[in-house]
Amino acid sequence: MKSATPKTIVLLGGGAREHAMAWKLTRDGATVHVLPGNGGIPNSHPDISATDFPAVQSFCEAHDVKLIVVGPEAPLAAGVTDYFAGSDIRVFGPSRAGAVLESSKVWSKNFMRRHGVATAMSWQYRSDQLDEARAKAAELDGQVVVKYDGLAAGKGVYVCSSIAEAEQALTDLQAEHTGWFSFLLEEKLTGPEISIIGITDGNRIRLLAPSQDHKQLLAGDKGPNTGGMGAYCPVPFADDNILAAIRTDIVDPTLLGLQSEPFDFKGFLYFGIMLSPQGPKLLEYNVRLGDPEAEVLLPALESSLLELIEATLDGNLAQTTVWQRPGYYVGVVLASGGYPAAKFPTGFPITGLDELHPNILAFHGATRQQGGQLVTSGGRVMVLVAHGQELEEAVQLVYSEVGKVNFQDAYIRSDIGQRPTPEIAFNQVR
Ligand code: AMP
Ligand code: GLY
Repeated sequence: MKSATPKTIVLLGGGAREHAMAWKLTRDGATVHVLPGNGGIPNSHPDISATDFPAVQSFCEAHDVKLIVVGPEAPLAAGVTDYFAGSDIRVFGPSRAGAVLESSKVWSKNFMRRHGVATAMSWQYRSDQLDEARAKAAELDGQVVVKYDGLAAGKGVYVCSSIAEAEQALTDLQAEHTGWFSFLLEEKLTGPEISIIGITDGNRIRLLAPSQDHKQLLAGDKGPNTGGMGAYCPVPFADDNILAAIRTDIVDPTLLGLQSEPFDFKGFLYFGIMLSPQGPKLLEYNVRLGDPEAEVLLPALESSLLELIEATLDGNLAQTTVWQRPGYYVGVVLASGGYPAAKFPTGFPITGLDELHPNILAFHGATRQQGGQLVTSGGRVMVLVAHGQELEEAVQLVYSEVGKVNFQDAYIRSDIGQRPTPEIAFNQVR
């Protein structure tokens, strides 16, 4: 089922996830324009913002583009799919109503409840109910997670281990968000986390390989949370039993739930899951590919992403199959020194990319061109990805290459893909 005609498509976004998406869609036969893109993604258009829909529309009309693929959540939450509804330009990604699965923690928790999706117990509060939340946190001995109800770029979640920490989290929450807001208090779960990402038309889903992110800055899962310091796939301990439990307890009820909601959902759907002793529990939905998960999942995907996207939009997802390449993929983020603090220096020249082993993929995240020179422009500068027949082989290859890319104060986490194999006990207790 190869596309008959060459396709020109627009991809919205400008990080390493979008570089990986553009790379894959180009291999699948498309010409990909990336708005705004970055200093390393071919066909980037830095003057066009991904949320300036009239400018995106003019670009599409000028270049005869009939398909827009969306990388990050912001354009979806801002209604890019609704904006183009009724035009002859199709958007791969949910409408604003569907994007609320990610953009509101309260809404998505209620969705999980309504549809019997396995998740942590939780209590919902408004910003004028902090005292009640404090009392509940004390009752749970501070073993709670506080979640702000909105897109907070990874900054709205506070995982607490004591009453004092929970008190502090509620104080910080109040200080950081002005005006009226809602938040959740959740029971704190334990267990390894896994990312399950699929392509769905709202009725069926095609799952990509299970992957694992490394969200914390420092080795051993220590330090502050980041957007993700590296990822790998597939996950060796995610065996058929675990994947079957995830399917039954989380993925299938989600799809049944989507069918009963008054909106269509065509796009990527990301399940952030914790394998707790009580079984897999859903921590969050995202309505997009993960970053940095996409940077390993897309090289691992043998099937055409372009065909999967078109089949989804055409209502033909049932006719597709997802083929994976054998072996393991590991992606390590090269970050700017100081990230993820609010401010850190950027603008440093990047060198050494020409020296990378030809089998290494380098996806640019935060780079820009400045007077003919590639320089850093943000926190997660680049992701290097290696393949190996065994996970260890991919890990060794990527770490033998990361030192070749240089910029001032570059930081890499040293243990991507090297977590000890966890004990998963729930097969016995379920
Ligand atoms: P979220 O944005 O909801 O996925 O939360 C971000 C991170 O907070 C997750 O990746 C987990 O590491 C942690 N987290 C969220 N909810 C819980 C929970 N109920 N129990 C323990 N950790 C959690
Ligand atoms: N890697 C986590 C995320 O994309 O939200």
